[in-house]
Amino acid sequence: MSGFDPVGSFDAEQAARYDDEPRGDEGDAAAFLARWAGDGGALEFAIGTGRIALPVAEHGVAVDGIELSPHMAARLRTKPGGAAIDVFPGDMAEVRTGRRYALAYLVFNTIFNLPDQEAQIRLFRNAERHLADGGVFVVEAAVPSAWIPADQEQAVRAERVDATAIAFDTYRYDPATQVLLENHLHITADGIRFGPIRLRLAWPAELDLMARLAGLRLLERHGGWRGEPFSGTGLHVSVYGR
Ligand SMILES: C[S@@+](CC[C@H](N)C(=O)[O-])C[C@H]1O[C@@H](n2cnc3c(N)ncnc32)[C@H](O)[C@@H]1O
Repeated sequence: MSGFDPVGSFDAEQAARYDDEPRGDEGDAAAFLARWAGDGGALEFAIGTGRIALPVAEHGVAVDGIELSPHMAARLRTKPGGAAIDVFPGDMAEVRTGRRYALAYLVFNTIFNLPDQEAQIRLFRNAERHLADGGVFVVEAAVPSAWIPADQEQAVRAERVDATAIAFDTYRYDPATQVLLENHLHITADGIRFGPIRLRLAWPAELDLMARLAGLRLLERHGGWRGEPFSGTGLHVSVYGR
């Protein structure tokens, strides 16, 4: 996608709006993650505005984060408890904090924000090198078929249809590379606002293989934060350890 800048997807405007409509899984996710962290500390890859990190910290867990967007990190610092979280700027596949944790985690499909398979493999390696003895890496993501119906490699979907404003989502998916190019467009009398995103999707089995390349193996897989069974559709919460 020419002209795409990953930081641009999470610019100052996006960061200001990010917490307006919470996803709703924050409490369950924090309880699940805090159990794995115990008193060994946690590292969130792509910590964003702390939507999950702050509730995890409320369980008494010391949380660090890595974040690419300075706007998202700045928003985190303005929230109660945010200033107590160390955020290391940069690419989560590369940045090292110099510390080790009982838990590293990456949620809300954000492993797919890494542009290709190589970067996703580097991310698993980076997670492994941050784990203390007995530590685990938790990934939460949707399966690709939850995003892209099998027979729809491109589509336009209406999201809002009013007399003076429309919004729609348009995407194109390449099954060979598993790269999804997507843009949310909002059109009003004031003009057009683009919301581009480039994602590289991966099935759970491929993530398991990436983990193996990093010296990790799948310990548990659930269909949600409450330990629901994984059905093969929707999202998965996967726990990797040495
Ligand atoms: C969907 S948000 C998720 C934020 C937070 N984890 C949550 O659950 O609310 C995706 C976040 O990933 C960050 N991000 C995207 N690519 C990144 C990268 N390569 N390294 C670090 N952060 C990245 C974005 O800036 C954004 O804050």
